Amino acid sequence: GLRRATNLVWQEIDIDKAERARMKGQTPSILWFTGLSGAGKSTVANLVEKRLHSLGKHTYILDGDNVRHGLNRDLGFTDADRVENIRRVGETAKLFVDAGMIVVVSFISPFRSERDMVRQMVEDGEFLEVFVDAPLEVCETRDPKGLYAKAREGAIKNFTGIDSPYEPPEAPELHLRTGDLTPEQAAENVIQAMRDKGLI
Ligand code: PPS
Repeated sequence: GLRRATNLVWQEIDIDKAERARMKGQTPSILWFTGLSGAGKSTVANLVEKRLHSLGKHTYILDGDNVRHGLNRDLGFTDADRVENIRRVGETAKLFVDAGMIVVVSFISPFRSERDMVRQMVEDGEFLEVFVDAPLEVCETRDPKGLYAKAREGAIKNFTGIDSPYEPPEAPELHLRTGDLTPEQAAENVIQAMRDKGLI
């Protein structure tokens, strides 16, 4: 288990989130992409970030494959490691929101409880859950990294959708069926949802 820090006090800082966001002229938020490997999370996240960037928004992408090379390089794919992965990513995303940024988060994040935990960590309306939804058969056919084939052979254990669970969101702010949309259409839906919510 985790050791808890003791004898710590929260340090008050005079420049606050609202002040930092005002300087950037934007409303900070978390766009949380969740879905199976190969569903299109990274592709759509990238397009969304480009659109936001061209609108003059200050953004940052946190992506599973990248964060697992650095901050979370000590974590694998057991349930417990995925829980800790998402906990750290949630805390990191919260720091970005506090810095006034629009942060695009792209992780499988298979468990409802951890996604809901992150939602609770930030203020109401700051967390947009985007379900990047493609049927397992579609993801497996795409298999861009050849990982499904390896999982079927048993060469990768605990692979999401094969021998590790994925819990679909029950009430996501946005549900993208990427089997029926081009990546550009999917990204446009995200931008429109942000407009509708007054986030951009
Ligand atoms: S999680 O479940 O949120 O902790 O996963 P995440 O940090 O997003 O990492 C998913 C990427 O890791 C690769 N990979 C695996 N995915 C699922 N299960 C297993 N066992 C696994 N092993 C490696 C895979 O490339 C995932 O990338 P994406 O972009 O989702 O395809």
